[in-house]
This record gives sequence, C-alpha cells and structure tokens, in this order.
Amino acid sequence: KEAKLWGGRFEGSVTDAVERFSESVSFDKALYKQDIIGSRAHARMLARQGLMSASDRDSILHGLDEIEKTIEAGEFVWRMDREDVHMNIEAALTDMIGEPAKKLHTARSRNDQVVTDIRLWCRDAIDKIVASIKLLQVALIKLGLENEGLIIPGYTHLQRAQPVLLQHLLLSYVEQLERDAGRMLDCKDRLNFCPLGACALAGTGLPIDRFFTSHELGFAGPMRNSIDAVSDRDFVLEFLSANSITAIHLSRLGEEWVLWASEEFGFLNPSDSVSTGSSIMPQKKNPDPMELVRGKSARVVGDLMTLLVLCKGLPQAYNRDLQEDKEPLFDSVKTIQAMLEVTTEFAQNITFNHARIQKVLPAGHLDATTLADYLVKKGMPFRTSHEVVGRCVALCVANNCQLSALTLDQLQGISSIFEEDVYDFLGVENSVKKFSSYGSTGSACVAEQYSFWVSKLQID
Ligand code: ARG
Repeated sequence: KEAKLWGGRFEGSVTDAVERFSESVSFDKALYKQDIIGSRAHARMLARQGLMSASDRDSILHGLDEIEKTIEAGEFVWRMDREDVHMNIEAALTDMIGEPAKKLHTARSRNDQVVTDIRLWCRDAIDKIVASIKLLQVALIKLGLENEGLIIPGYTHLQRAQPVLLQHLLLSYVEQLERDAGRMLDCKDRLNFCPLGACALAGTGLPIDRFFTSHELGFAGPMRNSIDAVSDRDFVLEFLSANSITAIHLSRLGEEWVLWASEEFGFLNPSDSVSTGSSIMPQKKNPDPMELVRGKSARVVGDLMTLLVLCKGLPQAYNRDLQEDKEPLFDSVKTIQAMLEVTTEFAQNITFNHARIQKVLPAGHLDATTLADYLVKKGMPFRTSHEVVGRCVALCVANNCQLSALTLDQLQGISSIFEEDVYDFLGVENSVKKFSSYGSTGSACVAEQYSFWVSKLQID
C-alpha cells in the first residue's frame, strides 16, 4: 500500500471499508479543472513570495498542464486510495516531477483548497444556468409571437376567471425566470470571494499574498476571516435555494402544459419529438418531458434539504461532513440544467389549438368583471356593480346563455344604468380590449411589454 500524504504519524493503515467509505474522488474528480487552476495560482504566488524557486514553480506548472491533458484525454488513473481529487492530483504531480511537487501544499490545506474549488465551480455553473434560463425566455417569447393575439381563458382556483392573451401568460413565466437568473447572479456576487490562504482554519505565519491568488482566480477579494472561509457552505445553500425556486417555477409550467395537453383542455399539441407513447395503450401520446420536469423539481428541492440538514449541526471550521456537499450540488446543477433544456425544447415543439380554444372561450362568463367595470364607469359603486353583474350571471345560468346574449331589456330589468354601449364591453374580445392598466393583459400593454423583452433578449 502507498503511504498516505498525511501518513507521518500513523503506524497502521485504514481498513478497506473505511477507505471506501471516506473516499470522495469518485465524485469530486469533477472539480479537477478548478483544482488545477487553484494550484497554478497558488504556485505562482508561492514563487513570487520567495516560498519556492521559479524553476520549481515552472516544473509544477508544466506538470499540472500534463495532468490536465491526461485527465481530459480520459487517461488519468483516479485512485481511491488517494482519497480525493486534491490528493490524486498532488500525488500524480509528485510521481511525475518529484521534489518540487512537495512544495505545492505550502501554506495550503485541503480545507481552503476544496472550498476554493467549489466556489470556482459554482461560478461557472451559475453562468451556464443563467445562459440556459435566457434560452428558455427566448423560446417563450417566440412561442408568444407565433400566437400573437390568441386569447385564452385565464384561471384562478383553476376556475375560469378573465380572458387573457396567451402572450401575457407566457410573459409571466419570462418574468419569473428573470428573477431566477437574478437570484443566481446575486448568489455569484456573494460567493465570489477567495478562501485560499485560510489554510486549515487559522491562516498561516508564512509570508503568503492572499490578494494575489484572489486576483489571479478572478475573485473580488480574499475572504476576511480564515475560520469563516473554511467553515461555511452558505453559498452552496444559496445556490441550491435559487435552483429550487427555478425548479418550482418550471414545475408549475410543466403542470400547466400537462393539463393543457389533455383531452379535457385540448389547448396545446406537443409534437411527436417531445411526446412518448404507452407500452400497452396504442392510442396514447403523453407529454412526459413536462411531467418529468415537474417530477425532477423534487430532486432539486431534495438536494437543498440534504445540504441544509448537512450543515445544521456543524461546529465552526471544517468538518469532514462537508465532503457530502458535493453530490447534492452536482445533482442539483445537472438536474436544473436538464430541466431548462427540455422545457426550452418543449416550448419550441408545441402548437396551440386555436380552433379549440376559440370554441371553448365563451364559456365561464370571462367578461363579467369587465361588465362590472362598465357600471363603475357609469358611476355605480363597485360593490353594487358586482352585485348587479352577479344577478346578470344568474340570469345567464338560468337561461343557459352568455352575458353578451342578454337583451338590453333583460339587462335594464336588472339595472336601469345599462345602455346600448354595454355590448362594447361584452364578449372576450371586447373584454380583453378594455384592459389598459400598466402590466395588464390589454393588447397595447402586452405589446409594450413584448417590445421590452424582445430588445432585452435581443430577439430578431
Ligand atoms: N475531500 C474533502 C472534502 O471534500 C477535502 C477536504 C478534506 N480535509 C481534511 N482535512 N480531511 O471536503
């Protein structure tokens, strides 16, 4: 058995079960790039500070380049007995270049090393997720443009409420996604500080330059407190919280589209490229991707829960428990990325069933609130107009008709305020036209919002 890098004080060796139980290389090898980037910056700093010679630095940098290539070629041998990504790379470097490699871990601990790697990894992951969010926003905007002017029933309590433009509804998801991206970027700003040089927990007496490494690695500055630097994973919690909120947004969109693809709604048709069939029922065409988007949101929330519980009982500074932060982090990022990608593809591969929507649109008295507003415009207090329109609706229910089918006589029988111009306010098309408040579903308001988003997202 190879001696451990930390083996000086030990006489015996760990059991195989303990070795298997403690290793993290099987998953933290995903951090190899960040680990190498961090080691390069650290070696440069050590040489600048006179803690290693320029030639030692150069052989370390050269060795790290070679190791990176070997890893990327899939030829690196990851060894479980070397525990984690950090010691695998350091030991491989020692195998390759000998003595100079032994200086690399000067004024460094795996405690500050690992958390530096994770921060660098999160930074990249956030950029990728934000880019994917933008692609979905673009797909939603385009879907709206393809269906310009399409009025759909708006629901509250899943009961018919008021008519809205499909574009307006799609923009509501675009807005949510914008906040999701904003949360990610806020998180990135807050995590972008460098733990390197905190060493095990207390810092070091060696003359290192933490500002140099921080700057080399593109951080905003070194973390102020060495204990804090190795202790906390709050940035991962924050990131996974942001992922969870995004996942919940996507899950709600998934739920809506799954409902809409049903025979009962029949609002949208997913193309074959985003549908799957049944192994027993020959007629089935299921919107599985969006069901799985809904389903996978559970994983993302679960990953956040794992990390919250992981952190709750830890005394300050590094504890080995923290090794368990990586799998939920990786899983959350991988899952949210896939959810975003598939939702985007789904949005690009559905059509709206205009004829069906048109046909079912008159049901449900979607114009009732517009009618109440009509009476307000005529000077009636809203509570009274609510009551009056309620009676009009009751009459429709009794006669099995729409509000627009009531005669002026019938309406005036309920309130003498009704005049001929009331028909301008009835029917879903008329009703939608009346919306004019900022952010409302009125066509002019939606058009204004659309031009904002089209230029913000640079859609041509
Ligand atoms: N593999 C460890 C982790 O992921 C690295 C840090 C281990 N530090 C230590 N002193 N055992 O957290």
